Amino acid sequence: MPKHLLSTKDLSLQDIYAILDEAIALKNATDIDNSLKDKIVTTIFFENSTRTLSSFEIAVKRLGGKVVRLDISKSSTLKGESMADTAANINAMKPNAIIIRHSEAGAGNYLARYVTCPIINGGDGAHAHPTQALLDAMTMKLHFGDLSGKKIAIVGDIINSRVATSGIDLFRRLGMTVFLVAPPHFQSLFNEEENLKKCESLEEILDCVDAIMSLRTQNERHNYQIFGSLKDYAQKFCITKDLIGNRNIIVLHPGPVHRNIDIDDEMLKDERSKVLSQVSNGVFIRMAILKRFVG
Ligand code: NCD
Repeated sequence: MPKHLLSTKDLSLQDIYAILDEAIALKNATDIDNSLKDKIVTTIFFENSTRTLSSFEIAVKRLGGKVVRLDISKSSTLKGESMADTAANINAMKPNAIIIRHSEAGAGNYLARYVTCPIINGGDGAHAHPTQALLDAMTMKLHFGDLSGKKIAIVGDIINSRVATSGIDLFRRLGMTVFLVAPPHFQSLFNEEENLKKCESLEEILDCVDAIMSLRTQNERHNYQIFGSLKDYAQKFCITKDLIGNRNIIVLHPGPVHRNIDIDDEMLKDERSKVLSQVSNGVFIRMAILKRFVG
């Protein structure tokens, strides 16, 4: 296991399978697990978060550990302290791990140079969101069993999405074929390969995929409005129940969902929608990661 978890690329295939198995075992366990007893984990989120921050904090507490959340709005970063100095000062208090989210790609990699404890990336710019990719893989593994040979379409603002970048890496390493479905201005810069295909419409993939992951348009990362309107976008790319019909496809979304733009209300209510299962599974993935990196 590497010291830090900054990207899915830090993990070997063996690490990935071990984390998925551990998370599933934790989900099925009935005993209390105190692997993080006497450990203190600091969370520093420089960007908004509903799911990831609370999921990590619940995971630490479920393992008997303690969380210190650095409130950025009250921290000295606002007084002009550099991020490296903030990190070095937190590190001097000897937490057992730091979990960070930042709008800059590579923020975790940069901080890793200034601290002695493990850093876990809770999302950095459009670069990586390793724990999200792992919880998505866990959700699919619980549904399909073996993921090898399965096909997933990632739909939406792929180029600006760290969820997409980490998912593309992880899912392909687990043997899946990934279709990237987006209008040209949202399409990824990855080259097409045998198990990575680019498409411009949902119709091209509907009859061959096992899963669809919809993404939010990452407006905060657009320097200017690069599409007509969300309504125009939704007309071509919204995952509606009408569109899916009776196909045997599961639908994922990392949240926050733009209702009726990313996925429609009816599809979100359908049992093929795994959006809330992803959130539940996220706690177990983060517990498994904390056990390995901190416990
Ligand atoms: C995503 C994120 O912040 O990267 N959400 C999440 O972590 N569950 C996706 C998004 O903001 O669209």
